[in-house]
Amino acid sequence: MFAVAPMLDWTDRHCRYFLRLLSRRATLYSEMVTTGALIHGDAQRHLAFNDTEHPLVLQLGGSVPQEMAQCARMAQDWGYDEVNINVGCPSDRVQNNMIGACLMAHPERVAECVDAMRQAVDIPVTVKHRIGINGRDSYQALVDFVGMVAEAGCEHFIVHARIAILEGLSPKENRHVPPLRYEVVQQLKQEYPHLQMTLNGGIKTLDECEKHLHTFEGVMLGREVYSNPWLLSEVDQRLYQDSSLAPTSRSEVMLKLRAYIESQVAQGVKVTHITRHILGIAQGFPGARRFRQLLSADIHRHENQLAVFDQAIEVLQGR
Ligand SMILES: Cc1cc2nc3c(=O)[nH]c(=O)nc-3n(C[C@H](O)[C@H](O)[C@H](O)COP(=O)(O)O)c2cc1C
Repeated sequence: MFAVAPMLDWTDRHCRYFLRLLSRRATLYSEMVTTGALIHGDAQRHLAFNDTEHPLVLQLGGSVPQEMAQCARMAQDWGYDEVNINVGCPSDRVQNNMIGACLMAHPERVAECVDAMRQAVDIPVTVKHRIGINGRDSYQALVDFVGMVAEAGCEHFIVHARIAILEGLSPKENRHVPPLRYEVVQQLKQEYPHLQMTLNGGIKTLDECEKHLHTFEGVMLGREVYSNPWLLSEVDQRLYQDSSLAPTSRSEVMLKLRAYIESQVAQGVKVTHITRHILGIAQGFPGARRFRQLLSADIHRHENQLAVFDQAIEVLQGR
């Protein structure tokens, strides 16, 4: 199983629509949405998606069992295929609310959330977490965390293979400063062979994915997919032996996206809210710099933004 990671501000519905044009099979995750935002905010804005986005997972940030159950039910009612708990985000803002990686120190609370959510819904409830946090980074603590959460009924763990340092590092630094330790996740998988485990962190190529899929049920890629989305165009064939979608060219994908942009613009969405996610599709392609220039700078200066988008397509067509 191949998944694109949940990424706040990046994997919104427009980004996911675009990514889905490149792979029919990859599992897509929402950005993290907090229970507060769903219960007290504009749920429709956070939950709406396009039918093509399946298989689609809603990632929740929260730790109050009844609220998590309520939000899991919303996810199920809206048609999400799975609901995932964020136990990996190290941001200060979320720590104050007992959301994210700080929950690694409270496995019993995560287990209570899983239990309440499973009672509320039929879709799978999964957990994305780190291999530890500062002050609680022993292998035994990790084994205990997974054991307790699994006992509550979680059968699939997505493991970002580095610890989170909850004081002194920014969320961005927390994605590259603590070293990657795939061997710890391998050991964890051996400990719990009956649990599904997806490896996350620092994976950049499909060769690496193929290798890891000998050990793990899944791989999850975040930043590499966002900066080089064309990588997805080979996922179905190489990892699922499915060539039914297989886009043949970048411009073909852009033409399909154009139709989507038009329909979204008709509903009041700004062109640039969609195009901001596609700057990487020309990576490594002749004209990549011109393409980026058009969609990151020129488009903001023009009234007819679709015309600039069309120029970007022409770059990909080699014109
Ligand atoms: C911009 C950005 C936003 C992120 N937001 C989330 C999030 O909302 N929830 C989450 O669990 N992880 C989040 N992450 C972490 C990723 O899901 C992933 O665990 C991390 O980037 C490591 O994978 P990678 O090396 O393949 O990018 C975010 C990462 C980035 C770069």
